[in-house]
Formats: sequence, C-alpha cells, structure tokens
Amino acid sequence: MSQDTPLKVGLIGTGIFAHTRHLPAISAVPELKLTACANRTIEKAQEFASKSSIPHDKVYADITALLADPDVEAIDALLPAQYTLDAVNQCVAAGKPIAIEKPIAANLAQAKEIVRISRESELPIMVLENFAFWHIVDEIKAVLSQIGDVVYFSHYAVAPFNPNNIYLNTSWRQKPEHVGGFLSDGGVHQVAIFTEILGEVESLSALTTQVQDQSGDVDTLTSTLKMKSGVLGSFTYTSAVSVPRINKLTIHGTKGSIIYDFADKDNAKLTLFTPDEPSGKSLAVERNEQEGVPAEFKNFAEAVRAKDKSLLKVPCEKGFHHFAVICAAVESGKQDGTSVKVAVP
Ligand SMILES: NC(=O)c1ccc[n+]([C@@H]2O[C@H](COP(=O)([O-])OP(=O)(O)OC[C@H]3O[C@@H](n4cnc5c(N)ncnc54)[C@H](OP(=O)(O)O)[C@@H]3O)[C@@H](O)[C@H]2O)c1
Repeated sequence: MSQDTPLKVGLIGTGIFAHTRHLPAISAVPELKLTACANRTIEKAQEFASKSSIPHDKVYADITALLADPDVEAIDALLPAQYTLDAVNQCVAAGKPIAIEKPIAANLAQAKEIVRISRESELPIMVLENFAFWHIVDEIKAVLSQIGDVVYFSHYAVAPFNPNNIYLNTSWRQKPEHVGGFLSDGGVHQVAIFTEILGEVESLSALTTQVQDQSGDVDTLTSTLKMKSGVLGSFTYTSAVSVPRINKLTIHGTKGSIIYDFADKDNAKLTLFTPDEPSGKSLAVERNEQEGVPAEFKNFAEAVRAKDKSLLKVPCEKGFHHFAVICAAVESGKQDGTSVKVAVP
C-alpha cells in the first residue's frame, strides 16, 4: 500500500451506526476508502452499498466472503458484541487489520481472548471508542496540573429514557447477551472519558437496578471507585430515568477543581477553579467533528499504513479496561455493593 493510496476498507454490520456515523466518517478521511460491505441480511448491505461508493458486486453476506475479497485490506466491524471475537479471529487468520466497535466483547472471557490475540499479532486491532478522541479529554489533561494533586472526582451521566430511541429498538439490545446491556453499551463511553484523564480503575463498589423493562437488564448504576493512582471517585450512569439530562465531570485537587458540564454537547462548559480564580475561570471548549468518529478512523489508518499497532490510541487493552469497569460494577451490584477488583486481561 503506497502512502498516497487510500486503505481499502470492508465494513461488516450495515446497521444504524454504519449508516449514521461510519459511512460519513470514513468518507471524510482521505486515507480510507470503503470498497466492500457485508451484512447478515444482505438486502441491508445492498442498501448500504447504494448509499456509498461500494459497487454492487462487492456486497457480501458474511465476513468470510468479505475477507476473501482482494479489494479489502482492513475491516471495520459493527456487530453485536458477542460476534466480535469471531470477526477478530477471522481477520487475524486472513492477515487483515480490524477496527471493532465497543464494547469490546459480550463478556470478560471473550474480551480476554481478544486482548490475547491482539498481543500475539502484529496487526493493528483497534477498539472504536470515539469518546477517547474527544478534544475535551486533552483540554482537561492540559490544565490538570493547575489543581495540584488530584484527590477525588465525580462522573455523573444521567440521560432521560426515550422509548423511541432508535438504538433501544434493536433486538440484540432488548435481549442483551453483553454483560450489563445498556450499562456496557453506553457506559463504556463514560468510563473512557474519565480513565483517559485520570488513569485506570483498581476496584469499585456499585449498586445497580433496572428501571425500564425494555432495557433487558440492569440499566442504572451508582458506584464509588478507587483508581490505580490512589485517587477516589464516584461514577453514576443511567439513561433510564426522567428529564433533565445531566453530564458532569468534576475533579478536585489540592489546589483547585475542574468542572466539565457537557449535558448540552453544543454548549459544554469547562471551568477551572484555583486560589487565584476562586469563582472559576471559563475555558474555551472545542468539539471535534462527529464526536471523534473521523478521528478514530484517521488513527486506525495511520497505524495500519505504518504497520505499527503501537500508534493505536485505543488498543484492545484499553477497550478491555472500559468494559471490565462496567463488568465489575454489574458484579458488585449483584453482591449488594461488595468491593470488586476490576479484571485485568
Ligand atoms: N461508538 C458509538 O457511539 C456507537 C453508537 C452506536 C452503536 N455502536 C456500536 O455499533 C455496533 C452496531 O450497532 P447498531 O446500533 O448499528 O446496531 P444495529 O443497527 O442493530 O446493527 C447491528 C448489525 O449487526 C448485524 N447482526 C446482528 N446479529 C448478527 C449475527 N448473528 N451475525 C451477524 N451479524 C449480525 C445486523 O444484521 P441484520 O441486519 O441481519 O440484523 C446489523 O447489521 C455495535 O457494536 C454498537 O455497540 C457504537
């Protein structure tokens, strides 16, 4: 592959997110070109192809056929989490890099296997955790030292239940095989934000409950966390209650605090409190286009072109950790809040 030629990508799983985000994002990245697609229901793959640059003779029913196409150099997989391990196995056997959607897998055993495979292979295998690519993560990291030593943080992400949410109406979400159902589906994004800034979680105590029948599993969690750094924190996540939406990350240090309020994504507020600015100083917040999805594909293309998996911003180990935090919370919830160590791969 020359540096000027786009990487030829085959996409598997032409569902909602493939249409709404992956298609526009990949189209916006000059280093990538969608050349083929596959879907279990092939009519949906044909419809996807007709909306993209994919010719009709490059539409397949499964990943085996997609990988056999010489016009496919790398795979973009958007499957229910329980099918991701098989996709990774097939890609590695075919010698083709793969970007997989979050959560990394449906359970910890599958997630460990994906990490093992990724460690043993030289191929870039990336978890598409777009929240790790949010500009705000770097913006907060850039001012973190101004609040002294971090002591405590709180990440609170509560969204109103929407029975008409298009994602809610997918059958694999309503009868989830992935641990925690909606808690791991959306919760891993929130974990990605605070762990990118504050490092990994060592252990936690959580309580969980199910508010909505349609959730198919527990859908609400509140927890206290001990980070590997010794920092303490709390994490609350649900999209199963009522208005308003509240998304707030507060970080408290020995010399000040940071409050990031992102309930309104188009009008997010970042405030830095220090002894010189006890009432708080507003900092400009930059958003990246489509909340990091094009950025993650740029990163994937860069690592594949360079044949260097160390360039991946979200390697499988990180995707594992995001998911393992939710798994630990679900486990702790089952034990009425007993402290649970977050699994390591
Ligand atoms: N990063 C984010 O912010 C974000 C947001 C949304 C979704 N996602 C991720 O994107 C992925 C797809 O989500 P979605 O919302 O697009 O769901 P979706 O619309 O239900 O799409 C799922 C796709 O997987 C296929 N599929 C289902 N069961 C299968 C099986 N047994 N074997 C092979 N293929 C199967 C479906 O094929 P059929 O057409 O035959 O059913 C469908 O094309 C998930 O991993 C999800 O976590 C990420």
